[in-house]
Amino acid sequence: RKGNATKEQIRLHNLVQQLPRAIIIGVRKGGTRALLEMLNLHPAVVKASQEIHFFDNDQNYARGIDWYREKMPFSFPHQITIEKSPAYFITEEVPERIFKMNSSIKLLIIVREPTTRAVSDYTQVLEGKERKNKTYHKFEKLAIDTNTCEVNTKYKAVRTSIYTKHLERWLKYFPVEQFHIVDGDRLITDPLPELQLVERFLNLPSRISQYNLYFNATRGFYCLRFNIVFNKCLAGSKGRIHPEVDPSVVTKLQKFFHPFNQKFYQITGRTFSWP
Ligand code: A3P
Repeated sequence: RKGNATKEQIRLHNLVQQLPRAIIIGVRKGGTRALLEMLNLHPAVVKASQEIHFFDNDQNYARGIDWYREKMPFSFPHQITIEKSPAYFITEEVPERIFKMNSSIKLLIIVREPTTRAVSDYTQVLEGKERKNKTYHKFEKLAIDTNTCEVNTKYKAVRTSIYTKHLERWLKYFPVEQFHIVDGDRLITDPLPELQLVERFLNLPSRISQYNLYFNATRGFYCLRFNIVFNKCLAGSKGRIHPEVDPSVVTKLQKFFHPFNQKFYQITGRTFSWP
């Protein structure tokens, strides 16, 4: 099991805290946690457990790169550190800041069908509001402008799903080859092929196997098997039940996202069978 190293282990094995060589920059609710945890099954990958929010939070960013490095786990020099902070993808300042740290860093983006992602995003916010006993509008009311009956592009859950708009900002700094797009819908139903594509993108030998992933019928998701004694599923907050959404609103959103999706396929060279 990979975990916190003791001082003795750090000294004995020459462990170091390394800046990430790959970052999962988003997309929120795309399956960023599952992707990070699954990549961490690879012996040459070490994850930063927490979302660091270094590049998207001005206060954190002002603390400097050494602060960021100190947030990283200890690893062997040959290992690569990966962190995930999904807000990076949509935050204006982030591409330039990451570029300044390492212009050849590898960037991972995990996407889901945009309307499903928006509903998932809504569901997470709704849960937070309910916990605080606050009332919250229905998804339909937020996603559709009541005056015009058009899709409300001011609603954040809608905007985040316009993947191409965000990606275009990143492409001002990084060539498209430095990004790898992960199919978040496939990561749910059949994770191994997606992980193998990431291994190849990261130039890692293929080490994650079917043994490391088993379907847990109770959870309805794949869980992780590190070895004979250690396995784990993601937290219960991953895999929420989404509210039912008026089918006409779903269709309206799907139509709205369609041209942006086409552009996204064109730019990335990865096509999805989204409606
Ligand atoms: P839902 O809650 O909408 O089902 P993120 O980590 O970026 O917040 O993404 C959360 C999503 O990861 C969940 O969205 C869930 O569907 C998805 N996911 C993918 N693989 C999973 C897994 N093995 N276990 C739990 N959730 C997984």
